[in-house]
Amino acid sequence: PHRKLCTLFMSIILTFHVSRLLSEVLCDPLSDFNVWTSTRPLNNSAKGHAANESVVIAATRLDGRSFFWEQAPSAEGTVSGIVTLLATIQALYPVTQEAPPPHNIFFSFFQGEAFDYIGSSKMVYDMERNDFVIDLNNVHSMLEIGQVGLHRGRSLWMHSDPVSRQNKSVDTQVSAMMSRVQSAAAGLNLTVDQPSVSQPLPPSSFQRFLRVRGIPGLVLADHNTSFNNRYYESLYDDAENLNVTYPPDLSPDEQLVYETDAAKSLAEVATLVARSLYIQAGGEEKNLNNITADPKIVAQLLYGFLIQKNNSWFRSLLPPEVTKKGDNSILSSGPPQFYIGLGPRIHGPVHSVTRFVQYILANLTGTITNLTESQCQNPSEVNTENKDLFSYFWVSGPASVNSTGEPFCVRASVRLSKAVSPAFELLEYGSPNYSTWTESRWKSIRARIFLVASRELEMLTLGVGVAVLLLSLLVTYFISSKAELLFSSAREPPTTTY
Ligand SMILES: *[C@@H]1O[C@H](CO)[C@@H](O)[C@H](O)[C@H]1NC(C)=O
Ligand SMILES: *[C@@H]1O[C@H](CO)[C@@H](O)[C@H](O)[C@H]1NC(C)=O
Ligand SMILES: *[C@@H]1O[C@H](CO)[C@@H](O)[C@H](O)[C@H]1NC(C)=O
Ligand SMILES: *[C@@H]1O[C@H](CO)[C@@H](O)[C@H](O)[C@H]1NC(C)=O
Ligand SMILES: *[C@@H]1O[C@H](CO)[C@@H](O)[C@H](O)[C@H]1NC(C)=O
Ligand SMILES: *[C@@H]1O[C@H](CO)[C@@H](O)[C@H](O)[C@H]1NC(C)=O
Ligand SMILES: *[C@@H]1O[C@H](CO)[C@@H](O)[C@H](O)[C@H]1NC(C)=O
Ligand SMILES: *[C@@H]1O[C@H](CO)[C@@H](O)[C@H](O)[C@H]1NC(C)=O
Ligand SMILES: *[C@@H]1O[C@H](CO)[C@@H](O)[C@H](O)[C@H]1NC(C)=O
Ligand SMILES: *[C@@H]1O[C@H](CO)[C@@H](O)[C@H](O)[C@H]1NC(C)=O
Ligand SMILES: *[C@@H]1O[C@H](CO)[C@@H](O)[C@H](O)[C@H]1NC(C)=O
Ligand SMILES: *[C@@H]1O[C@H](CO)[C@@H](O)[C@H](O)[C@H]1NC(C)=O
Repeated sequence: PHRKLCTLFMSIILTFHVSRLLSEVLCDPLSDFNVWTSTRPLNNSAKGHAANESVVIAATRLDGRSFFWEQAPSAEGTVSGIVTLLATIQALYPVTQEAPPPHNIFFSFFQGEAFDYIGSSKMVYDMERNDFVIDLNNVHSMLEIGQVGLHRGRSLWMHSDPVSRQNKSVDTQVSAMMSRVQSAAAGLNLTVDQPSVSQPLPPSSFQRFLRVRGIPGLVLADHNTSFNNRYYESLYDDAENLNVTYPPDLSPDEQLVYETDAAKSLAEVATLVARSLYIQAGGEEKNLNNITADPKIVAQLLYGFLIQKNNSWFRSLLPPEVTKKGDNSILSSGPPQFYIGLGPRIHGPVHSVTRFVQYILANLTGTITNLTESQCQNPSEVNTENKDLFSYFWVSGPASVNSTGEPFCVRASVRLSKAVSPAFELLEYGSPNYSTWTESRWKSIRARIFLVASRELEMLTLGVGVAVLLLSLLVTYFISSKAELLFSSAREPPTTTY
């Protein structure tokens, strides 16, 4: 029976090892989530063409990269766009609720754009297969915010795509859009120009839409022919590159609300974008003066995204449970993570910028409800609430001098959508059309460390060991040579009978 059990064990162990070898995954696709919201809520349960919807898309990218892992500050490359779009939403939202323009405005933050447009290609792919809240027929036009750090004075450039503009109807709409942006710039301390018509579109998420259809659209950036950002996708594209610096003697809470010059100029860009979007969506020009971005919000966003995410404002926006301490906590010290990574599935939400943008949007566009924590997690039980149109966020709330703040439930039409390359869904790993970036599996190499005993003890141990060896050899020799004598009584001849 012992032999059988042993064989059984051996075969179990062997099968285990072989199956591990066969199923070993060597790398995982880069993935995370896009964040989107709209001025009129869209029914997230209904996929495909949305009847009577025509949306103006306002987009920017959410991620950046650099040569070094987890060192992608992407200040001008990414943060300038994120901050501008968030401030745009804050400026635009109240007016779109008071005086809604005919077209819906759809705000989208694309994740993974630094790796061959993972997020935007996935959204376009879903739109084509009727697996998204809207489809391409719902798209009226698109305005994308590129690098808007305003490095060279206060001029912005409207880049457009010369290929799709060969179509007369697209060209007319693009020209109309340009003149709307120009008119929105009136009264602002900014100049807006267009590069020469034949100049190709710079790298942007808009490219992924154009690949499928000639949608009228613009990309707003602070350069004419070549990037002004010398540190594009570099380790040095940090707060200093964007001129976000503070006087030396400010406390963190004072730095949070300190309006740097960069904050003031980005607020102006946000005002321009918000006004342009409002008239592009068909809003009335008389409301334009009500749309002004708040430099204080821009200052807080810049501080949170470039210097310190663990600040009192961000803490008040996030759920109470994430504020706990620890290296892997979403609120660990420093700016958020702009490298897309493997997504929440594998490494946990870590400090990815996605979470922050999601909760900031919830704060900027949401309304405070009186739901309890359990109702907030399960709003379908409350008949006045609607999960098709809204998401519900349980957040910490602002802390006062004495207390940690009262958590409450925020209702907002802010959504996440998966940002993973369609190549992995289609199992086309050699796809020329979709990103196939992956990250190797992390394997930990382990070593054990022992304390070395003193030299005398080592020698003693060796000596005793050798002595025991010699002694046992001697004993064995002695026993086996005298075996006849020693064991004779035990060895009965088999023929013996009693
Ligand atoms: C959203 O769409 C789903 C599926 O079409 C539908 O059942 C639901 O009633 C819609 N919800 C709202 C609020 O329109
Ligand atoms: C779309 O608009 C038309 C006319 O404004 C209206 O009759 C129709 O009911 C609307 N459809 C939906 C699904 O809202
Ligand atoms: C940053 O400040 C320096 C000096 O004040 C100026 O030359 C530079 O243009 C500024 N850069 C930006 C992006 O504003
Ligand atoms: C131009 O674009 C419009 C709408 O995007 C399309 O209906 C039309 O067929 C295009 N014209 C040509 C000549 O491609
Ligand atoms: C416009 O911006 C420039 C450069 O920052 C500044 O010198 C000027 O005072 C500003 N003008 C107004 C009217 O704000
Ligand atoms: C933008 O660049 C083009 C091509 O170099 C040049 O012809 C044009 O004058 C530039 N525009 C401005 C306003 O500098
Ligand atoms: C615009 O501002 C004016 C004055 O503050 C206010 O009376 C009006 O209601 C506002 N309009 C909108 C659409 O918010
Ligand atoms: C964030 O900062 C606060 C106040 O400085 C501190 O008490 C808290 O422990 C920090 N949180 C994390 C996760 O480090
Ligand atoms: C947004 O955040 C501010 C500051 O923490 C807070 O006063 C406000 O109530 C929040 N609004 C919503 C809708 O969450
Ligand atoms: C929340 O407020 C609504 C009216 O605004 C009221 O009908 C409802 O009873 C309140 N719910 C709770 C749990 O207080
Ligand atoms: C803080 O606590 C003190 C004493 O307990 C109280 O007098 C004060 O009003 C509190 N302040 C706030 C903002 O709650
Ligand atoms: C890539 O896209 C082009 C144009 O959309 C299409 O013709 C081609 O079949 C695609 N290739 C693959 C491998 O999907």
